[in-house]
Amino acid sequence: MQPVEIKKDIFWIGYVDYDHRDFHGYSRSPDGSTYNAYLIKDEKNVLMDTVASGCEGTLLCRMAKVLDPEKIDYIVCNHMELDHAGALETIVERCKPEKIFVSQAGLKSMAGYFACKDWPVQAVKSGDTVSIGKRTIVFQETRMLHWPDSMVSYIPEERLLVSNDIFGQNIASSARFVDDFGDDSEYLRRVKEYYYNIVLPYSPMVLKTLPIVEQLDIDMIAPDHGLIHRGEKAVRNIIDMYRTMAEQKPQQRALIFYDTMWQSTESMAYAACSGLEENGVPTRIMSVKSNHHSAVMTELADCGAVLAGSPTHNNTILPLVAAQLTYMKGLRPLNRVGGAFGSFGWSGEAPKQLQEHLAGMNMEMPAEPVKCNWRPDRDVLKACHELGKTIAETLKKKCQEG
Ligand code: FEO
Repeated sequence: MQPVEIKKDIFWIGYVDYDHRDFHGYSRSPDGSTYNAYLIKDEKNVLMDTVASGCEGTLLCRMAKVLDPEKIDYIVCNHMELDHAGALETIVERCKPEKIFVSQAGLKSMAGYFACKDWPVQAVKSGDTVSIGKRTIVFQETRMLHWPDSMVSYIPEERLLVSNDIFGQNIASSARFVDDFGDDSEYLRRVKEYYYNIVLPYSPMVLKTLPIVEQLDIDMIAPDHGLIHRGEKAVRNIIDMYRTMAEQKPQQRALIFYDTMWQSTESMAYAACSGLEENGVPTRIMSVKSNHHSAVMTELADCGAVLAGSPTHNNTILPLVAAQLTYMKGLRPLNRVGGAFGSFGWSGEAPKQLQEHLAGMNMEMPAEPVKCNWRPDRDVLKACHELGKTIAETLKKKCQEG
């Protein structure tokens, strides 16, 4: 229950939730997340965001190790989603703040969630500032990163950006800083996982926001989930990663996801994989039975091509593949090459439907879908291999064009 001083008189007082998994469909596996909240001690004492409902006791305990909760003067609500604001009602009651700062759009969600008409709320917009003594808070709206109300708070005297959802990762750990985590490749994977399962649809807003962030003098980015980016190098690193992920330039790797009833579609997946790999495109095959849809989505972060496979079942595609496609479409990946395949017994609609789903995500579809009646023979496997080869060639050309 100890607070962690991240800068002089600025404390992390959040909650590490080791057990929470489902976040509107995104599986925070294997180990949950954190709800970071920050306390700034100054002439005006500020609480920056709260935590999810049920975690307020821990927040208050950590706060009390630094400061009597009744001495909180201001609360800043950078975002009203309930992983940050679920505890707000209890905290307002306990701290009785002089002011609560929220964006204009945040007013609506605050009123939607809480009986807050008597709260001392002040709406702020980009560029508004509030002096808290030795320090200033500069507000910057970041609409749709991750909700319309989202904003970030910059403290220039500390070179600190409290970034709320953006630049976060779902990591539940006793480490508070990226450089304390001790597993760089796992950290990178979690950054991609978080981006590809939450932020991806808002990539155009990310590309508009990054230049604003880059104009600020920052040596620490403190997000509301996961590890804090400490030092100029770590700050540069996460900004560069965000730009790369938002740009979605084609990458020479492929992802094949599929489901299968009696292993015919599975054999087709492996034949298509050979066609890709033998033509210079490393490929990951993922069964949707064995992999959660958010794990498949994370894999897409490094893949410029995506192939979907399903047998025909009740005149359509199998439900786990349909769920994967629905999830993927909502996250709006861009700039991919696609392909489809599947087996059937008597009607055979699935491959065409898969093709239409992928084309509906604006994927470039360089080949007709491959169908297989019953069990794949040599000719069908050759056609799948050819599908892989065609996609590999299209992708390589796309990568060269940038
Ligand atoms: Fe971490 Fe959009 O909430």
